[in-house]
Amino acid sequence: MLIRFLVCFVFAVAIASVDCNSEGDALISWKLKLVDPNGVLQSWDPTLVNPCTWDLGNAGLSGPLVPQLGTLANLQYLEVFGNNLTGTIPTAIANLTKLVSLDLYQNQFNGAIPESLGNLVSLSFLRLNSNKFSGILPVKVIQLVRYGNLRILNVSENQLAGTVHRKTTSGFAVTKIIQDPRAQK
Ligand SMILES: *[C@@H]1O[C@H](CO)[C@@H](O)[C@H](O)[C@H]1NC(C)=O
Ligand SMILES: *[C@@H]1O[C@H](CO)[C@@H](O)[C@H](O)[C@H]1NC(C)=O
Ligand SMILES: *[C@@H]1O[C@H](CO)[C@@H](O)[C@H](O)[C@H]1NC(C)=O
Repeated sequence: MLIRFLVCFVFAVAIASVDCNSEGDALISWKLKLVDPNGVLQSWDPTLVNPCTWDLGNAGLSGPLVPQLGTLANLQYLEVFGNNLTGTIPTAIANLTKLVSLDLYQNQFNGAIPESLGNLVSLSFLRLNSNKFSGILPVKVIQLVRYGNLRILNVSENQLAGTVHRKTTSGFAVTKIIQDPRAQK
């Protein structure tokens, strides 16, 4: 019994340290690419905070998201809204299958919204509003509203083509998709 307990314990510690290492590695890879005028990432140790939540909203950060973020398999909340982040959404973000909230709003992100985000069936909040995303909103992402858990899909104030507008007034489920007026005829 004791041995069984110890084996489980050692195994748990091994898993925990693997997670911490990959979180540390992902953070270091990301730090190297970011401009962090307020030093939030210098003092911020992802192994000391809840490993399920990376909250870096309104931190004055600029630079891109890095594909290494896709290694944070336990991440549930990725909050980087209200910064000056640029570049595209790395397709590796679609590996974060436990994500509940992906809040990239109010940044300078551009490029297409990856279709692979449609794999994130745990997502409740996908807020990409107020960026420079272009192309179409992939059907697979819209389907998360119907077949997944998505409650808020906000892509308003971007440069997306086409027009989809879906809004429910019932309870908490507000889904709002507004396109760039320039794309509308
Ligand atoms: C983004 O960068 C511009 C120019 O450097 C700066 O004026 C602005 O305050 C920044 N915005 C945020 C949210 O950090
Ligand atoms: C994401 O998952 C794919 C397929 O499972 C894998 O090949 C890729 O290396 C992963 N990327 C990251 C950044 O973890
Ligand atoms: C959606 O995004 C727009 C533009 O950033 C914002 O004004 C609006 O409050 C957002 N709505 C929701 C429900 O998040």
